[in-house]
Amino acid sequence: MPHGDVAEYRAVTVSTSTRLLPMLLPTEYASFRGDVLSELCGHVECLKTSLRRSVVLLDPMAGTAPLIPFVEFIGSTGYFNDLNTLHLFVNRARTVAAYKAFNAVGPDSLLQALMKATASLSRLQRRPTDKWIDEQTLPRLLAAWHRLADFQPSPTYLLRALFLLSIRSFASYTTSSNPTWLKPGGLRSGAPRREVFNRALSKLQRYYSAAQRYYFPAYENQTSAKGGRVVLSNVDAASYRTKSPVDIIVTSPPFCNRVDWRRLYGPEGYFLEALGLCPKHEYLGTTAVRGYDDSESRLLALTDISPYLGRFLIEVRKTQIHGERSSDYYVKYFVRYFDGLFTAFDQAISNLRRGHGRFLFVVQDNAHRGQGIRIHTALTEYFSCRGFTVSSGGKERPRHHLGLRNVSRKHPMVSPRQTESIWLAER
Ligand SMILES: C[S@@+](CC[C@H](N)C(=O)[O-])C[C@H]1O[C@@H](n2cnc3c(N)ncnc32)[C@H](O)[C@@H]1O
Repeated sequence: MPHGDVAEYRAVTVSTSTRLLPMLLPTEYASFRGDVLSELCGHVECLKTSLRRSVVLLDPMAGTAPLIPFVEFIGSTGYFNDLNTLHLFVNRARTVAAYKAFNAVGPDSLLQALMKATASLSRLQRRPTDKWIDEQTLPRLLAAWHRLADFQPSPTYLLRALFLLSIRSFASYTTSSNPTWLKPGGLRSGAPRREVFNRALSKLQRYYSAAQRYYFPAYENQTSAKGGRVVLSNVDAASYRTKSPVDIIVTSPPFCNRVDWRRLYGPEGYFLEALGLCPKHEYLGTTAVRGYDDSESRLLALTDISPYLGRFLIEVRKTQIHGERSSDYYVKYFVRYFDGLFTAFDQAISNLRRGHGRFLFVVQDNAHRGQGIRIHTALTEYFSCRGFTVSSGGKERPRHHLGLRNVSRKHPMVSPRQTESIWLAER
C-alpha cells in the first residue's frame, strides 16, 4: 500500500473491542486473550476499510486460530497454518460451515457416533505405561479414528475434532510444576467415555455460542456479508507458501520461553504420529539442540541482522555454567530460536502482495538468568533490515493472560510476570 494511506488506515474506528472467544483446546497456553484479539481484528478491519475490498490474511503459526470467525465474518480469506496437526483438525470444526453442520446433526447423534466408534475401549483395563498412550489402548483408538468415517450424516471432520479434543483422557501422562512440561507415562484417567465426549461436545458448543453471539448472527443475516474463506494447513512456517498473495500477516510466534510444543501436546502428538499425520519438523523454540552444529555461523549472521542479539548472545555465553559451557547449550538454544524465527518471518513476508507490507506480531517478554530477552528489539532490527518500520500496535499488557511465570522465575532480578505487546511492521 502507498505510504499516504497509512493516516487513513490508522484513523478508522475499531469496532471489535468487545468481541472475545473462549478457549477450546485442553492446553491453551498461548491463545490470544480477548483484548489482544480485538486489537488485532481492529487493525485488519481498518486495512479492509482503507483498501475498500476484502483482505487476505495470513497467520503462519496460528495455533488455535482465534481469528477464524472474524475472517469469515468480514468476508476475507484467512490462511491459518500451524505445524501442530492437532490444530489443523480442531480448527476445521471452528468454521461457520462446521457450526451449521454441528447444528444440523445435533450433539446427540455426534455423541452416539463417538460411543459406537469407541465401543472396543469400554472394557479395557487401566495399565501403567511409560508411553503417552498404553499399548492396549493405542490400537483401539487408531481403529476408532478410522471408524469415524462410517457415521453419516455426522461429518467425519467434526467427529475427528471431538475425538482429538478427548484423546487426553485416554492417554497416560503426568503433570509437573511447569504446566507446559507434561511427562509421558502413568495411568490413563479412567473417566467414562460418555463423560469424556460430552466434555468435548460442550467445549465446541461453548465456542460456537460465543462465536455466534459475536459474529454469526450478523454473518447469517447481513446480505452484504460475502462469507469468508478459511484455508488450514500444518506445514513448517519456514516453507509455507500461500496459494494467493496476502495483504496482512498477523501472528504470535513462540516466545523462546522454552515451551516445548511437542510435550505440551504430547498425548495428541503421539496419537497423530501413530497415524502418520505429523510433519517431521522441529517446532520453533525446541529445547532439543543436540546435533544443531552450525550455531557459530548462524550466530554471526544473526549479529549482522540484529546488533542487539549480538550483545545478548555474548551475555548468554558468559552466564553458562557447568556442562552448558562445554555443550554451549543456551547459546545454541537462542541462536536456533532466533534463526528459525527470522526464517519463518522471511517466508511469511515472501507471501505478501507486491507493494504491501503490513505485519502484526504479538510478543511476550521473557528473561534468561536475570537478563531480559527483548524479542521485539531483535524483531525491530530484523524488520528494519527488510525495509519495514516497526511501531506499537496496541497497549502493552502488564502480564501474560494466564499470569504464567517465565523460565527465569528463580532469579532475583527477574520479575516473574510476563508482559505482552503488539507490534506493527509496515513498509
Ligand atoms: C504462541 S503460539 C500461537 C498461539 C495462537 N496465536 C493462538 O491463539 O492459539 C505459537 C504457535 O507456533 C506453532 N509453531 C511452532 N513452530 C512452528 C513451525 N516451525 N511452523 C509452524 N508453526 C509452528 C506452535 O505449534 C504454536 O501453536
